[in-house]
Amino acid sequence: MRVLVIGSGGREHALVWSIAQSRMVDKIFCAPGNGGISKLAECVDIKADDIKRILDFARKERIDLTVVGPEVPLSAGISDEFINHKIKVFGPGKKAARLEASKVFAKELMAKYNIPTAAFKIFDNADSAKKHIEKNGAPCVVKADGLAQGKGVIVAKTIDEAKDAVDAMMQKKVFGEAGSKVIIEECLVGQEASILVITDSKEVIPLASAQDHKRIFDNDQGPNTGGMGAYSPAPIVTPKLLEEILDKVIYRAIDGLNKEGIVYRGVLYAGIMLTKDGPKTLEFNVRFGDPETQAILPRMRSDLLETMLAVSEDKLSKVAKLGGLSWDSRPCVCVVCAAGGYPGDYQKGQEIFGLQELENNKEAVVFHAGTKKSDGKYFTNGGRVLGVTGLGNNIREAIDKTYQAVDKIHFEGMHYRKDIGRRAISED
Ligand code: AMP
Ligand code: GLY
Repeated sequence: MRVLVIGSGGREHALVWSIAQSRMVDKIFCAPGNGGISKLAECVDIKADDIKRILDFARKERIDLTVVGPEVPLSAGISDEFINHKIKVFGPGKKAARLEASKVFAKELMAKYNIPTAAFKIFDNADSAKKHIEKNGAPCVVKADGLAQGKGVIVAKTIDEAKDAVDAMMQKKVFGEAGSKVIIEECLVGQEASILVITDSKEVIPLASAQDHKRIFDNDQGPNTGGMGAYSPAPIVTPKLLEEILDKVIYRAIDGLNKEGIVYRGVLYAGIMLTKDGPKTLEFNVRFGDPETQAILPRMRSDLLETMLAVSEDKLSKVAKLGGLSWDSRPCVCVVCAAGGYPGDYQKGQEIFGLQELENNKEAVVFHAGTKKSDGKYFTNGGRVLGVTGLGNNIREAIDKTYQAVDKIHFEGMHYRKDIGRRAISED
């Protein structure tokens, strides 16, 4: 098969790496890809949101399956375009992608179909939002409706902080139109887990559980980022809890969408908070998580490409009948190495040292996120630069192997958290 992967981050490197191991693959392209991906796939200089050029490329190159990584092209309707042209694609259509592109849509669906989530109210007017905050007090959570590169959620400790967030979103329009509506919701407390499933709307197959580390500094301090590391499995998600999450969140969401006439084909990601009152849904994403994917896919024993192809053909039941997906029982840890200053301003173009030494390392894989290759050398080219990933016989061993590999890598300003996976040790 000829496969095209859309995107340029660590998630896409992990997808390409996994697809490259498929017994069905002949050639992989990636648009636009990155320095690390270029070793496994032919990188094509087309931006991930340039749907017209991607479609032209897929037709010209006779691509058998296109796998869409990021949410932006999905929300813009890339999958509908491909399906209209009878080209196979993995990723939900525009209507289904609203689950991520509009938090108002997601919350209304959750309310209608009884999916547990934080109590909330929707506002299209800053004054009413602020009055509501004054009346209900803090802490509370302020969320911009639309896509805001993961920055549209403010967990406000005080009333002033919440009102400032409303001003920034609705009046200063820091996220543009994404902030024309906001949600004010109850602040939940608990551990978070990421539950990802693959579905064609009829069949649902869960992937291994994972836990992300969203804050920039150790012990969950500092601002939120795209994710500074992950581990899989999340021992806190017991088989019983997984069943509960599937029943109350995942199946209800997919059934609800079906009832609304919306077919979901792709990966559905539920961000769950495990509260003392049970699991509650924080958000839905319509794609693989980043960096969760980097910790999940190295544990996958089944053929990812075969599974994604089955989804695009509405034949996921075949995979389910053969027993679903199989997993390596060993835990996996991914530590993100970021550019100094991230998630604020940061420099690009720093040379990355030590990658060669890790190339033949059987204990660790380095997924590239923001890198560029030039004259055989690698340079930083984004906020999250690398995702160093290791498997171990237990979580402690996976953590040790991963950090031993991180120690070999260096670039100016490199920052990483030292506590990825630590929480899982006590739960193992
Ligand atoms: P989201 O993009 O909705 O997942 O939000 C990003 C992060 O904000 C989540 O991973 C949580 O850490 C936090 N968050 C979102 N909603 C809530 C909530 N209702 N209560 C507490 N924290 C939240
Ligand atoms: N790791 C969080 C996300 O992918 O949205």
